[in-house]
Order: sequence, then structure tokens, then C-alpha cells
Amino acid sequence: MIPTNLEKDSPGKVNLLLNILGKRTDGFHELETVMHPIKVFDRLSLERKGQGIQLSCSDPSLPTDSRNLVYRAAEKFLETAKIKDGVGLYLDKKIPLAAGLGGGSGNAATTLLGLNELFDQPLASDQLQSIAASLGSDIPFFLQSKPALGTGRGECIKPLEFFPALRGARFLLIHPGFGIPTPWAYENLARFPSALNGQPGRAQKLVSALQKTDLKTAATEFYNSLEAPALKKYPLLALFQEFLREEGATATLMSGSGSTTFAVLQDQSAAEELAQKFQGHFGQANWMTIVPV
Ligand code: C5P
Repeated sequence: MIPTNLEKDSPGKVNLLLNILGKRTDGFHELETVMHPIKVFDRLSLERKGQGIQLSCSDPSLPTDSRNLVYRAAEKFLETAKIKDGVGLYLDKKIPLAAGLGGGSGNAATTLLGLNELFDQPLASDQLQSIAASLGSDIPFFLQSKPALGTGRGECIKPLEFFPALRGARFLLIHPGFGIPTPWAYENLARFPSALNGQPGRAQKLVSALQKTDLKTAATEFYNSLEAPALKKYPLLALFQEFLREEGATATLMSGSGSTTFAVLQDQSAAEELAQKFQGHFGQANWMTIVPV
């Protein structure tokens, strides 16, 4: 039975490593990244309905026309699958915007997967893949649900098994209350030549450490080139990391192009203790959550 409507969770991600290798002639940056899904979700409702695309959203600051990635994903899906029917989409937003957590990219991928289900799988996975890559570098990652190695501009995804070193661990996610636009972070990387021209191989080194050693050993391999411009402009983010490290985080890093800082803790009680200390020191964070890896 093909459903006429469905609801789907749209997860976020963190980058355990984001190593920029250089600027390409098409304006994008060549990179290697280790992405990990996080159990923080937006919720997308989809239904076959009327004509055209009708999108609404719980967050009034988000556009609901073709400026929204969900709308663009639906448009490309219907066009590629040659579907004339209309769709109604409702996005319940929980993941902060411009946070480096891939919320918008996840929403676009979830739209593609959801519509393919709603219309009885008219598109093959390579078609979904190419629509996803054309809409944004991070979107193909969200067509699957495992950790992954990303290369190219981030769109070439190799899924990996969940890492033994992170078994039982928790992510503590802290959003500072301001966002960092991705294009700004990449543009400003030009001022930091060593961050712009990273040596390849770091991603594989981290993956091997996460597969074969413990969290403490693997933590030394966490790295993000985009911290160079972000921490320079927002020193508060450097202070967050310094505090988290001093107070017991095994690993801490900015995710993607920011602005979210995350820490990895061995277990729930260590994560709760650190979250409390963080609030005692910096005051109530704008958005903070602890999720199991
Ligand atoms: O692909 P996406 O739409 O997420 O990229 C947003 C912006 O981030 C791009 O327009 C580009 O400025 C920058 N970017 C980049 N290199 C990448 C990914 C993104 O320069 N690999």
C-alpha cells in the first residue's frame, strides 16, 4: 500500500573532521570530511495534495518558496520523476539555523527520500544522489544514515560502520546564539593559507583511530580547517573549547562552518556534569543538548 501522507525525522550531523585541501576552479573547495549523524531532528510531513508545491514551516523566519531547500528538492524531484501531482509539505524546525549541523541539507535529503516513498519509488538511488549533489554539498550524506567519509566538495560519500571508539559516548552540542553563514566561512579561509591548503590523509587517519583505538587516542585527530576564520572572528567559540577541554571533554570541535561547538564525553553522567559546569561558567547557552552517539 502506498501512503498518501507520511512523516519523517530529518536528522542533523557533526563533522568530526573537516580538512580543506584547496580552492577549486569552480569556486568550491576540495575537502575530506568525517561526518557523523546526530540524534537531533527536524520533522517533515509530506502529503499528496492539490497542484504544485505548498510548503509551510514552524519557523516564520524561513522562506517557504524556492529559496527554501525543501521546496527546491521537491521541485527537482517532481520534474525528474515527471510527476504532475501536487504535494503539501510541513517542516517542523528544531535544529538551529546556520549552526554547522546540516539541518537544511538534511531537510532537502529527507524531502527526496520522503517523496520517493510517497510516489512509490519512481527514482533510483543514483538519481536521488545526483539531485542531492546538485542542491548542496552536504545533502548526499543525508540520503543514508551512517557515519561517512566525504570527499570532493563533500558530496562524494562513503558510508562507514558506527565507530567502536564512540560506543556508549555522548555528544554535548552547544549553540552560541548566533549563526555563521557557510559562504562567509569559506571566503574568509583565504586569509589563512595553512588552513586553506591542508594535507590529504587526515580523514583516513581519524577513521582508522576511531575504528581501532579508543576515544582518547582518536580525539587528537579531530580537526576543522574552518575554525581558523570562525574562531578569529568569534573568540567566544575558542573560549568554549578551552573550557570544555579543561573540564573533561575528551574531544571538542566546531562542527562544519559553525557556529555549534560540540564535545564528546565517555557517558551520560560525564556529559551532564560538563553541561552544568558550562552553564555555571558561561550562563544559560542559547541552545544546548546531550545526545547519545
Ligand atoms: O554546497 P553548498 O550549497 O552547501 O555550499 C554553500 C557555499 O559554501 C558555496 O556556495 C561555497 O561558497 C561554499 N563551499 C565551498 N566548498 C565546499 C562546500 C561549500 O566553497 N566544498
